[in-house]
Amino acid sequence: MRVLFFGDVVGEPGIRALERELPRLRRELEPDFVIVNGENLDITVPELGRAGMRSESVERLVRLGVDVLTGGNHSLDPPEAEAVLGHPRVLRPLNFSRYAPGKGSLLLRKGEKVLLVVNLVGRSAMPLAGDPLETLEVLLEKWDGVPVLVDFHSESVFEKLGHAFLFDGRISALLGTHTHVATQDGRILPKGTAYVSDVGMVGADGGYQGYEPDFLVEALKRKLPPTGLVLRPALGPLRVSYVFLEFAAKKAKALGHVSRVLD
Ligand SMILES: [Fe+2]
Ligand SMILES: [Fe+2]
Repeated sequence: MRVLFFGDVVGEPGIRALERELPRLRRELEPDFVIVNGENLDITVPELGRAGMRSESVERLVRLGVDVLTGGNHSLDPPEAEAVLGHPRVLRPLNFSRYAPGKGSLLLRKGEKVLLVVNLVGRSAMPLAGDPLETLEVLLEKWDGVPVLVDFHSESVFEKLGHAFLFDGRISALLGTHTHVATQDGRILPKGTAYVSDVGMVGADGGYQGYEPDFLVEALKRKLPPTGLVLRPALGPLRVSYVFLEFAAKKAKALGHVSRVLD
């Protein structure tokens, strides 16, 4: 089974980069499943700096052949979050409140091939989220024997790598998202779990995590969304970041990690 996973796709530049690269990668790598972290697909409230995804962007990615869109700390940002999270291919972190809209895992099926995709958020990114460790333990009790890929959305390498070792051999992959910065530490752990601390972003290079820095820098200074400014995507060249995985049964057999600027 082959899986292609893209890190946080940021705004219109990120969607355009994906539209340019995904058709070619699908032909070359022939993935069974394509997963995209979509928590930054849209700037849903520019004057408040809110991200998240809109239904129109979700549909654009589904038309490109994306099987599931994962989320993170921005999943509840859009005013229309409830409708978007109701889309069958959209996930938000499983360790959100049980009363939050949407779902945190999805079983993908293609012929004989099955993959359970799970979205978790670390407490370094969302201190009030439920315990990702206990949440995953409870889920795995129900899905014994099924290959599981976890998008672990977190600020902290310590948190991501720790959970990867804790669940080594019980899950097939733990891929980090959220920092928008690709790390160079892709590896397969001793019991067969594929691991990358952060896949990195798909979006415009040169800014502040894919955005023009002015709004975010002022927000950092004032501890408030700055009045008179709006959040906008950066203007630099397009970067694409993805991980390609091959599994045999539940174990990872190959891992490739690419983060590159398009010509
Ligand atoms: Fe993000
Ligand atoms: Fe995030």
